[in-house]
Amino acid sequence: MISQLDKVFEEARVMIFGVSSRIDFDNVRSKILGPNGVFRELMKLLPGLPKEERPSTGQAINACKDRVEEMLKNKLAEIENHETIASLGQPIDPTLMPISNEEIFCHPLTKIRNRIIEIFSNLGFSTVEGSEIETEWFCFDALNTPESHPSRDDHDTFYFGQEVSIENVSKRSDEQYVLRTQTSTVQIRTMLQSKPPIRILSPGMVFRRDAIDATHYPTFHQCEGLVVDERITVCDLKSILDFFFKKLIGENSEIRMRPSFFPFTSPGFEVDFRSKNLGKLSNRWIEIGGCGMVAPNVFKNCGYGSDKISGFAFGMGIERLAMLLYGIDDIRLFFQNDIRFLKQFKLSMF
Ligand code: DAH
Repeated sequence: MISQLDKVFEEARVMIFGVSSRIDFDNVRSKILGPNGVFRELMKLLPGLPKEERPSTGQAINACKDRVEEMLKNKLAEIENHETIASLGQPIDPTLMPISNEEIFCHPLTKIRNRIIEIFSNLGFSTVEGSEIETEWFCFDALNTPESHPSRDDHDTFYFGQEVSIENVSKRSDEQYVLRTQTSTVQIRTMLQSKPPIRILSPGMVFRRDAIDATHYPTFHQCEGLVVDERITVCDLKSILDFFFKKLIGENSEIRMRPSFFPFTSPGFEVDFRSKNLGKLSNRWIEIGGCGMVAPNVFKNCGYGSDKISGFAFGMGIERLAMLLYGIDDIRLFFQNDIRFLKQFKLSMF
């Protein structure tokens, strides 16, 4: 019997050693410990032994089984370890040649976003991220946008159900949560948190219930700017935007501002730019965003009372800029992750 036990142990050891996957493991485990496994078979032999040998043989079988179970436990830990490594993907190969900047690609939206941030940070703007989920108050009311305004319609805005609660975005009343439709919300969050002087830039994703076509997509990116201080004028606004477009597109670029209406500005303007550097579009005025002086009601909603304080804000679409500068004619390309498209944008090129 004891020699039979040694044989079983040796066979189990070899089987466990050969296991390389979880399926193998389950099979081997049931062959050894299962209802028809080798240990059950051994136990069945016990009653046939002389009475005095039974206790010691039973103990020997159990001791052997304990050792086999220990081997199985170690094997399982090994398999789980391999599974974790596999789920983490390829380890870094330190023998690979370093990649040159020429071979690194960067999504065109990231390139434009980074360039905008760079230009404005040289002018003393800091970059602030807001929240993509907002309350109606931040997205509309605080920005002086009345309930009757068409942008608040649920054909245009993504609303969350009344029952939804989001821990880190607090509501003021029984308003609903929305996916922000504009980065202008960050004006409000910033002014509620800090006092002038303020000089911030806020790039980020916005959401609108648009049908998808070559120029519309339900998610896109905007970049908002806000400057608040004493004696800020339209003249400051125009010079900053002018400077920005010259830096972005070239010294021969210029802007114009056309009077327009935005609930949160007074006065408000549409911004157009033109540049000789734009190939087919050279010298055509192209609409690129909105801007204006911060409306008194917006200041009031943020608790700013002083007459001396004034400010301007502007907002532009990042996809639109990227499409114009890179000659991209379909907004959907930005979101398809097609490597043939992405590989055209080297990190090293503008
Ligand atoms: N938030 C506006 C939009 O999404 C753009 C805009 C217009 C931003 C005027 C501004 C502004 O800061 O002053 O269409």
